[in-house]
Amino acid sequence: VPYPSLLPCCVCSTGVCFCPSRYAQSLMEIVDFLEKDPEDKNVLRKFTETLINVRNRHNNVVPTMAQGVIEYKEAFDVDPVTNQNVQYFLDRFYTSRISTRMLMNQHSLIFDGSTNPAHPKHIGSIDPSCDVVEVIKDAYESAKMLCDQYYLTSPEVEIQQVNSKEPSQPIHIVYVPSHLYHILFELFKNAMRATVETHESSLTLPPIKVRVSLGSEDLTIKMSDRGGGVPLRKIEQLFSYMYTTAPSPVIENARNAPLAGFGYGLPISRLYARYFQGDLQLYSMESYGTSAVIYMKALSSESVERLPVFNKSALRHYQTSIEADDWSIPSRDPKKLGKYEFSV
Ligand SMILES: Nc1ncnc2c1ncn2[C@@H]1O[C@H](COP(=O)(O)OP(=O)(O)OP(=O)(O)O)[C@@H](O)[C@H]1O
Ligand SMILES: [Mg+2]
Repeated sequence: VPYPSLLPCCVCSTGVCFCPSRYAQSLMEIVDFLEKDPEDKNVLRKFTETLINVRNRHNNVVPTMAQGVIEYKEAFDVDPVTNQNVQYFLDRFYTSRISTRMLMNQHSLIFDGSTNPAHPKHIGSIDPSCDVVEVIKDAYESAKMLCDQYYLTSPEVEIQQVNSKEPSQPIHIVYVPSHLYHILFELFKNAMRATVETHESSLTLPPIKVRVSLGSEDLTIKMSDRGGGVPLRKIEQLFSYMYTTAPSPVIENARNAPLAGFGYGLPISRLYARYFQGDLQLYSMESYGTSAVIYMKALSSESVERLPVFNKSALRHYQTSIEADDWSIPSRDPKKLGKYEFSV
C-alpha cells in the first residue's frame, strides 16, 4: 500500500508497505536449499547463516507496520469496518510471524553447535522446566527499571503461587520463556503506568499482585493492579492495533524504533498467549483497578501451534459489511459519536 510516508522502505522505496520484495527475497534464499543435501555440513552451516540473515532482515516489521497504522490514522478516518479488517489481518500476520521466527530461532540455536551456558537444559528456545515465578520476577525487574526511569518511582510486586499438583513445589511448565517474558513485561509496564499515574499525589503506591495457579488443565497467571481501571465498554478496544492512550512515539529511523506507545503491548501479548492454545483476558473495575489473566496449557501435549489458514473463509472476512444493529440499545460512546467515530 504505497502512500507518502516518513519511513521509506529500503527495498521498494515506497512508504510503509508490506514489503513483498523483501519477503520474496527471503523465500528465494530459502528455496535455494531445497535441492541441496541436508547431511552436508557446509550446506547446513550456510542454511543456518541464511536463516539468521532472513530473521534479521525482518527484525523491524512490527514498528514499521505500527508506524503505517499511525500514518493511516492521520490520513484517513478509521471506520469500524477498517478497524475490524486491520485487526483481522494483523492478528493473522503477526501470528505467522511469531511462528516463523520461532522456527528460525529454534533451528539456529540447535544447529550452532554449542549449548547455551546460561541455560544448558534448554532445547533451543524451549525450557522443558520453565520456572514461572522466575520469569515473572525477571519481567518485573525490567519493567521496574523502565518505570523508575520515566516516573522516578515504581510499585512493588507481591507474588503468590498455588501448585495443586505438588503443593510445596515451585510451578514449572514446558514453555518458551521468551514468549512468557514478553507477555509479562508488557502487562507489568501497563500496570505500573496505570498505578503511578493514578496515585500521582499519594506518598505510597499500591503493589501489583500476581497469583499463579497450576491446575490439571490450565496454568493461570493473574496480575492485578490498582491503577484506576478501564470502563467495560473500552476493554475490547484496548486490544485494537489502532488504539492507544500513550502519545505517538517519535521515530527517527526504522532500525532502532521504540515500541513504547504504539498500543501493541496487549494485542501482541494476546497472540503470544494464543499461539500455544492459551489466552489473555482483561477484567477491570472502573475507578479501582485491572486484572490481566494469562491462560496457558498445563500439559505440553496440548500446547500446539495455533496458525492462521489462508482459504476462502479468510477472504470473506474482508468482505463483510457492518449491518443494521439487531439490539435495541447499541453500545456507544456516551459522549460523542460522529459519522466515522470509532466505536467498538
Ligand atoms: N492495567 C491497565 N490499567 C489501565 N489501563 C490500561 C491497563 N493496561 C492497558 N491499559 C490501557 O490500554 C491501552 C493499550 O495498552 P497496550 O499495552 O496495548 O499499549 P500501550 O501501553 O499504549 O503501548 P505499548 O504497550 O505498545 O507501549 C493503554 O494505552 C492504556 O490506556
Ligand atoms: Mg503497553
